[in-house]
Amino acid sequence: MTLPAHGTIAPLPVALFALLLFACTAEPTSSEGPAPPPAPADARVADLSPLPDDTWLSGDLQEQLLQLSRHMGGMGTAMLAVGQRHAQLYWAGVDENWAYAAYQLEELEEVIERALVRRPHHAEAGSPWLETAIPAMAEAIAAEDVETFLDGFAAFTVTCNACHGATGYAYIQVHPPEYRSVNVRPEAFAP
Ligand code: HEC
Repeated sequence: MTLPAHGTIAPLPVALFALLLFACTAEPTSSEGPAPPPAPADARVADLSPLPDDTWLSGDLQEQLLQLSRHMGGMGTAMLAVGQRHAQLYWAGVDENWAYAAYQLEELEEVIERALVRRPHHAEAGSPWLETAIPAMAEAIAAEDVETFLDGFAAFTVTCNACHGATGYAYIQVHPPEYRSVNVRPEAFAP
């Protein structure tokens, strides 16, 4: 499944890497005579230094990328978002706000897809889940019927907990939300 264009997490390390690549391959654009001979690769990497005073990054570029990747977190960070989107999905269905429900499911899927890239040891449990649980939930949303949706949501939630069991977190049992904590509604806001 391809990621939607409106993804929420900018892959900063990837952007930094692309910047470095660009810096290493871009042609000089000066119009005054022939371009100077290219500097050795090491010197061009060094062009990115020194770091500004107000950054917490340190070390060479590779060390900086590692620092960024560690701060992105893994499954735990992703699951906070998944838990919230799971609740928002529920209220979207109760509200019969089907486009918002479909949107929530896509976002939730994207969060888990990316988490599995960062934590590949969970892919054995997560990849089959993405291929079965997500399409089943999508079908229940597409029916545009609250009862079908609620049945689908209950089955979906069981699969969340099955993955928690499979990954050693059986004590994390998610349930459908009891209270509305989402301020998105189908009708336009009119104060
Ligand atoms: C690939 C397996 C997998 C799937 C699928 C999965 N989870 Fe998780 N979930 C985990 C793991 C692993 C953790 C423990 C996170 C960690 O490593 O700290 C977790 C933790 C959580 C937590 C606790 C987060 C916290 O810090 O309190 C919530 C909430 C959660 N998941 C919700 C869900 C919901 C809702 C779904 C289904 C829509 C779901 N998860 C699907 C693997 C999964």
